[in-house]
Amino acid sequence: MTDINTRQADHPIDPQFVARWSPRAFKDETIPEATLLSFFEAARWAPSAYNAQPWRFVFARRGTPHWEQFVGFLNEFNQSWAKHAAAIVLVISKSTLTPPGSDKEVPASTHSFDAGAAWGYLALQASLSGWATHGLAGIEHDKIRNELDLPSKYKIEAAIAIGRPGGDVNALPEGLRAREVPSPREPLARIASEGRFAF
Ligand SMILES: Cc1cc2nc3c(=O)[nH]c(=O)nc-3n(C[C@H](O)[C@H](O)[C@H](O)COP(=O)(O)O)c2cc1C
Repeated sequence: MTDINTRQADHPIDPQFVARWSPRAFKDETIPEATLLSFFEAARWAPSAYNAQPWRFVFARRGTPHWEQFVGFLNEFNQSWAKHAAAIVLVISKSTLTPPGSDKEVPASTHSFDAGAAWGYLALQASLSGWATHGLAGIEHDKIRNELDLPSKYKIEAAIAIGRPGGDVNALPEGLRAREVPSPREPLARIASEGRFAF
């Protein structure tokens, strides 16, 4: 995974941050449940407002009875390659919380932000363990909500395809082969400014 990764950080950081990227070509390997649970374990330790831990993960592994249903939760484009992944994870967040000392449920203003932190932790742990994650916005929200009988206070954030990286790039749909490389980033000056909004 790292040998084709030519990304350079402009400031000193741990190499794990540039080593993680989102391939679409996965090896044919299935993922043991214990391995997947270790990724959720990393996500579990993410910070959240009031420590409300609004993230929820619903998953299916290839080779298990729920697999085809979960592939069907993705849009056509994502199905074309993610059907070869080892796991599909739905990231869901609870949009309400009960503040400490209160017994009243109130809207949570940062449930998506917090779920995003948890997904980041999950992605980094997977990468450190030799697996790849690929975030998916292209999913069928209504289908997921109906088939999983999701209560309205739970928001569907995104899905994640997880697989063993290093699969055959030529097995991908033709239009995706050239895109199978780690992507660059905006310079830091375009995303961070001191004291004023400079963008
Ligand atoms: C929330 C989220 C949704 C994404 N949705 C899709 C998607 O539907 N299909 C896809 O092929 N890639 C999707 N991506 C992958 C991004 O395009 C990719 O993460 C981005 O280009 C940065 O590349 P890197 O992850 O390799 O560093 C998504 C990523 C995230 C975080």
